[in-house]
Order: sequence, then structure tokens, then C-alpha cells
Amino acid sequence: TSTPIGVKPIMGFNNWARFTCAAQARLDGTRTGYSFQQFMQDQAKAMKDTGLVAAGYTNLTVDDCWMQRTSAGYLHGAATWGGSSQPGFDWELTDYSNYVHSQGMETGLYSTSGVNTCQGVPGGVLGHEQADANSLAYWGIDSLKLDNCGTTTSNRQQVFTTMANALKTATANTSRKILFNESAPAGYGPTSSEKYNSLDWVRTLGQMWRVSPDIAVWHGDSASAWSWPHGGDYYEGGVLQNLNDTVALARYDGPGNHNDADMLLIGDNNQLSLAEQRSQFALWSAMGSPLMISSDIRKLAADPTTYAAQLAILKNSDIIAVDQDSLGAGGYLASRDNSSVSAGVDVVVKPLAGGRRAVAVLNKNAASINYTLDLARLGFGNTTCTRTARNLWTHTNLSVQSTISTTIASHDTAMFTVDPGSCGAPIAVGQLQAPQS
Ligand code: DGJ
Repeated sequence: TSTPIGVKPIMGFNNWARFTCAAQARLDGTRTGYSFQQFMQDQAKAMKDTGLVAAGYTNLTVDDCWMQRTSAGYLHGAATWGGSSQPGFDWELTDYSNYVHSQGMETGLYSTSGVNTCQGVPGGVLGHEQADANSLAYWGIDSLKLDNCGTTTSNRQQVFTTMANALKTATANTSRKILFNESAPAGYGPTSSEKYNSLDWVRTLGQMWRVSPDIAVWHGDSASAWSWPHGGDYYEGGVLQNLNDTVALARYDGPGNHNDADMLLIGDNNQLSLAEQRSQFALWSAMGSPLMISSDIRKLAADPTTYAAQLAILKNSDIIAVDQDSLGAGGYLASRDNSSVSAGVDVVVKPLAGGRRAVAVLNKNAASINYTLDLARLGFGNTTCTRTARNLWTHTNLSVQSTISTTIASHDTAMFTVDPGSCGAPIAVGQLQAPQS
């Protein structure tokens, strides 16, 4: 027997949304001789130096473009990356994972279920599942993100199943297990039957899975070079759309099973207001999503004063505790009083261990509002009993009965936990799945 992995949503760093496989450079913008591996190691060091590792962000995943497939069929580090002439990764990744482990972090690698990755690198696992799993185990890798490129509805389940088994075989006799991060459900439309079918099988194979398109993707070094797969802007097309896609699937969450709403763009990304960054963090935690930051952590480490507000959001221990709560529940949309992306209030409720509830209240309006939250929406029936609520942004407790009144700035999200105390457990919200894997 071994310690289960991925029981709680992973927290950490992924380079993709902020950097893709094209924007890696030193902080001064120069690239000559700067390897993709050094870039990732510098992010790991910055994660530690900023205190983000101590706050729980321990997974460091390198996304597409890190690899090559040799003519003999083996997986190794790419000599160069992203079509550039810059150095990539060492042939073997042992030194890399040793370095990442020395910073208190775990390593994640990317691959895809077909032959070519989404960026056209012929490094996907198809036909190489066991050999690749063995390489990962040999290098001391802790997680694998397996993307959808190169497979279809007809063979995706088979490849993901083969890879899940290969990872188990490769680590059967090692102490280090490999978390399986599956993108499969994201490959299907939000309400398609294939999507629900895939959720039924991915949860038996791995610990987390993407359920929505990419939240936002950087296509260069200028601030205008972002794109949103859903259209709109980063807030509407990214945060609000991925909130919608994920909150609808809360019943698939449980300990060791996590819907992934995609990466956090909190930090130097400069595309969300601070209110919108607070909202992404509160809503992602209220959904129990993995919290993977895609931002230039080196900048936050070099100038923690400039990025004090962003670091405070990411390190908010009360909100992290909601994400990491031992019940492992997803967050449900308890109410939405306006279907517009630019008006109304969304209330997301997450059941917590011990009959507690977390609630995130998003103000989509263009102006600040005074809002009265009805605790019946959280499942608390007895309206005359006094309970303790906690404001997770101000870290202060308050006594509440039937409502909580609060002011919420435009695009900001208020967040509270409510403890039933001796008032009796709240009524059940949603249906929890049994733990898997
Ligand atoms: C699509 C995924 O959704 C992204 O997160 C990223 O992994 C890219 N593919 C890489 O090509």
C-alpha cells in the first residue's frame, strides 16, 4: 500500500497560459543561451523565494514543447524549444527533477494521447505508453498532464486507460507515484454526451482533469497578444466562461477527483483587474479546482512590493483552506440572478467538512453593490439561530442568523465560510461522488 496522491486539488505553477512554448526569456528579455530547463528551474526557485511553496503551491508542471522522441522510440528532453534555437532540456530529466525537488516542489511533465502534441512536437505517448511511463518514473517525475491532441472520441479512452495502467506499472515498486492529470473532457463540447461519457471514465483513471477550453493564451511578448478561446476578454471569455463550464460538473468532484477550471492568471499577467484576480481565486477555490498559477513568478520574486496585492491573493490561507478542504466537494451554483455576463450576482457554494459551507458571491455588475446573502441558499434552514461566519478576505469572524450583508466592488467576489455551530447541520447540497483511485 502507498499514500494516495492527488487526494486534494494540486497547487503549483504551469508555464503554458503565460508563456506557451515561445515566450521564455530571462527577466531582462534576453534569450541567448537561456534554456527552457533553466527557465523552469528559475520559476521553481522563485516559487520558493516568494513563499508560494510554503503556502502550498508545490507542483511545477512544464507544458508542451519540452520533449523529443528519438528514432529508437524513447522520450527525452528537446535539444531546442518552440522552433527556436534556444537550448531546451537535458537529455535525461533526473537533474531537473532533483533541482525542482530541492526547492520543495514536485515535477509535472506534459504529453498528449496521440503522436504529435498540440504544438506539433512528435512526443505524444501513443504506442509508447509503457516506455514513457518507465522514463517518467526513472527520472523521478511526480505528475503527467495528458492532452487530447492526436486522438478522437473513438480511441481516446483506450489511450488514457493504457497510460493510466502504464503509470501504475512503472511505479508499482517505487515510493514516488505519478499523478495522472487528464485533459480528455476538455476535448468535448460543454453539453455533449461525449463529455459526460468521458467524465465517467476519467474519474476511474486519474486524479484531475480539464473540463473547459484554455482560459487564455499568450501569443507573444506584447500585452495585446492574448487570445480567449471563448471570445470576449480575459474576464468574460476566461474566468466567467470557465466558471460556467466547471460549476456545472460539481458532482464529479470528490477526494482524489478534481475538475480543473484551468490556470490562474494572477500575478504579472496584467489582463485582469485586481478585483477580477480576487474573483478568479475565490471562485476557483469555491469549486475545488486545482490552483495552478501561470504567471512570471520570477517578477514577483524580484519585486514583491509591486506585486504585494497579487501575492496576498495567492497566499490567502483562508481561501486556500476552502480549496483544500478534506471533504473534497465541488462548488455548486446556488443562484444566478441574471444570465448576462455583465449584470447580476452568481453565488457558488462548496460544502466543507463538519457541516460547514463556503460561499463565493461574484458581482458581475459594472458598479459596486450592497448585497444581502440569504443563508438558506447555503442550506442553512433555522433562521433564528446564531452561527459564526468568517469573511475570508478580511479574516474576521462575524455572528450571523439568516443573512450576511456585504458590499462587493464591480467584478469582485466576496467570500465567507459559515459554521453551523450548535444550530444543526445544513441540508445536503448536491450529490458527492465516492472517492476514486
Ligand atoms: C491544450 C491545453 O488545453 C493547454 O493547456 C496546453 O497544454 C496546450 N494544449 C499545449 O499545446
